[in-house]
Amino acid sequence: MKEDKKQPLLDIQGLSVRFDTDDGSFKAVDDVTFSIDRGESVGLVGESGCGKSVTALALTRLIPSPPGYIDAGRVFFNGEDLLGLKSQRLRRIRGAEISMIFQEPLSALSPLHRIGRQMVEGIRFHRNISKKEARAYARTWLSRVGIPDVAERMHAYPFQLSGGMQQRIMIAMALMLSPSLVIADEPTTALDVTTQAQIFSLIREMKQNDTSLLLITHDMGVVWEMCDRVAVMYASRIVETGSLNDIFFKPAHPYTIGLLGAIPRLSVQKAHLNSIPGQVPSPYGYPEGCHFQDRCTHVMDICRKNKPALCEIAGGHFAACFLHGDNISACNGKPHLPDQGQERNEAEI
Ligand SMILES: Nc1ncnc2c1ncn2[C@@H]1O[C@H](COP(=O)(O)OP(=O)(O)OP(=O)(O)O)[C@@H](O)[C@H]1O
Ligand SMILES: [Mg+2]
Repeated sequence: MKEDKKQPLLDIQGLSVRFDTDDGSFKAVDDVTFSIDRGESVGLVGESGCGKSVTALALTRLIPSPPGYIDAGRVFFNGEDLLGLKSQRLRRIRGAEISMIFQEPLSALSPLHRIGRQMVEGIRFHRNISKKEARAYARTWLSRVGIPDVAERMHAYPFQLSGGMQQRIMIAMALMLSPSLVIADEPTTALDVTTQAQIFSLIREMKQNDTSLLLITHDMGVVWEMCDRVAVMYASRIVETGSLNDIFFKPAHPYTIGLLGAIPRLSVQKAHLNSIPGQVPSPYGYPEGCHFQDRCTHVMDICRKNKPALCEIAGGHFAACFLHGDNISACNGKPHLPDQGQERNEAEI
């Protein structure tokens, strides 16, 4: 596939995922649209259960089905629609061109095979090299992610290793084939601070070689360190996207403002998502209109009836809220403007 430098590497358009469960049907991902350019890192943030992991899994059709179904959308990667690809082609792309680091390492490692064999098979599926060369390559990558006694670990089964060790092996397997896109879902949660720093420095090194990153995290400090742009997700929808500066200094959506509320008082490096009063609604009962309406201090009648579109409010900065952009015309041009959303400067943060 020919690379078009102007086209985003990943272009997600109107992605929707439904789960059919014994308790009923619900949309875990609703009309999600965003893109990632070559060499760009995008952070996907939002409270637990908002659909971040389901979005990541749906991109390469890894949603367990049943109960999950991709109802709508297109996911262009280098111009090819991943949702329409033959599974053989998709398998070639997964691992070599798009790799994933999951929250749960055992979901990526086979319990039946030794680590060395899994790595060698993964390398040789995508690269035409001898077993000996593949073993040497695998050993190099295990060392790069800080695995001690590499030769011994190559002979181990995943269950013989600690959670942190499994996580590092999965990260080595995700990075070793120099993918164009790494999708990392809370990649370092199980790791100590030193190893976390080591892994992020490896990912940063890859970014310099034009690798793109979709990073799912609750840690806004990591977003600040690693990302160029941020997408904020709430109850199955993207509510705001923008550059780091847009999101940290000029947040527009009341949800983003709430999430970042505590950050100016902290060092941004240590910032976790703020807790907002109230709870994310159950996905079985998402309200009509804006999903944030019951927790929003600026809620208007229209928010309870209509779904706000994701509108551009300044160059490259989008928000899905009746207080902003073209959505304002839907409230007869008289929205109540949020008082917390004023521009903040870097010194405050
Ligand atoms: N296999 C599944 N079957 C049924 N429901 C599912 C399944 N996987 C996810 N869900 C539901 O889909 C919704 C979105 O889940 P998702 O895992 O994407 O949340 P998340 O934003 O990644 O949360 P967290 O930050 O806790 O990881 C949740 O309501 C979750 O319970
Ligand atoms: Mg998740």
